[in-house]
Amino acid sequence: MKPNKNYKELKESYLFSEIAKRVAKFSEENPEKQIIRMGIGDVTLPLCDAVVTAMKQASEDMGRAETFHGYGPEQGYDFLREKIKDYYAENGISLDFNEIFISDGAKSDVGNILDLFDKDNTVLIPDPVYPVYVDTNLMDGRKIVFLNANEANGFLPMPDYGVSADIIYLCSPNNPTGAVYDREQLKEWVDYAIKNEAVILFDAAYESFIDDKSLPRSIFEIKGAEKCAIEFCSLSKTAGFTGTRCGYTVVPSELEFDGFSLNKMWLRRQTTKFNGVSYVVQKGAEAVFTKEGRKQIKENIAYYRKNAEIITSTLDELNIWYTGGKNSPYVWMRCPDNMNSWEFFDKLLTEIGVVGTPGAGFGENGKEFFRLTAFSTNEKTAEAMDRLRTLF
Ligand code: MLT
Repeated sequence: MKPNKNYKELKESYLFSEIAKRVAKFSEENPEKQIIRMGIGDVTLPLCDAVVTAMKQASEDMGRAETFHGYGPEQGYDFLREKIKDYYAENGISLDFNEIFISDGAKSDVGNILDLFDKDNTVLIPDPVYPVYVDTNLMDGRKIVFLNANEANGFLPMPDYGVSADIIYLCSPNNPTGAVYDREQLKEWVDYAIKNEAVILFDAAYESFIDDKSLPRSIFEIKGAEKCAIEFCSLSKTAGFTGTRCGYTVVPSELEFDGFSLNKMWLRRQTTKFNGVSYVVQKGAEAVFTKEGRKQIKENIAYYRKNAEIITSTLDELNIWYTGGKNSPYVWMRCPDNMNSWEFFDKLLTEIGVVGTPGAGFGENGKEFFRLTAFSTNEKTAEAMDRLRTLF
């Protein structure tokens, strides 16, 4: 057996596993320290009532012969896909039913979609970036070209026609920087992709945090995107599904390259390698899109927004540069006093017991930056910011 040698190109452990390891070690050595976790973007509020009620009912269904469900459709149940179709229609996006695929979350689909692409393709990835895009391509041995995101471009890099790429990753609202592309900027990306005959893999996992109506929540709000983009979405942050697992991916029927339909390929891939998301979870996901569910998740998002505001107002007060936090649950701050991001991580952990994510974990351009999430409780976020004030 010959192992996949591309794994040699990967860092020893995945970013968030590395952080968890360091924090666990510190906690063990300092059991008296109260740690506040604002590192991995994991939610703290429980599932909303509408979801819990639907999942209880679905569990009852599974216990009765007349309503029991065995294997479900690999692409997802119609009842959920209908709701997602309607959700897009509210934003003026008309999707065909067959373009919607239910998944167990954006992370898996973002990795699995690479099955559709030749290993010879060149991949364009902004730096800093969600490490999954880089690692999954390294595993396949694809050539990666990095695109500089920095303070000067507001961490929203734009296309460079001097660089040609086949696969382009965009994430907006961005993980880790919280920056959000506007319509004109996304239009430029769509034009560039069409000109290069490239595909855009658009990660919209944080779309529900967009408050500003002028900002696009989906790349399909941009004309021409149906010819060049695939969109990944998730209920993890929208509805607290990080442990429940459900998301959806939109692969337009118009996406054709060299006579190959990506929609048909993805269906073929999913029906072969995936048996769908459980009935109980999809029933819970359906409830997210009901009137009651929408109202309840909105309250939860407002709760996290309050945290983002607590963080950004503290940084304003301390005169520390940052992006995000406005239409995003992430705040991306410059490390004070010229510290690098791991130094700052260690300082916060050891001196004030606050955990964030060092920007270096998201790429070279993140080395002087640090990510804080708004997913903690209001009380802990306020406490973390009080502790930060004692340092600066
Ligand atoms: C993050 O903290 O970047 C996210 O929680 C990771 C993820 O969604 O997989």
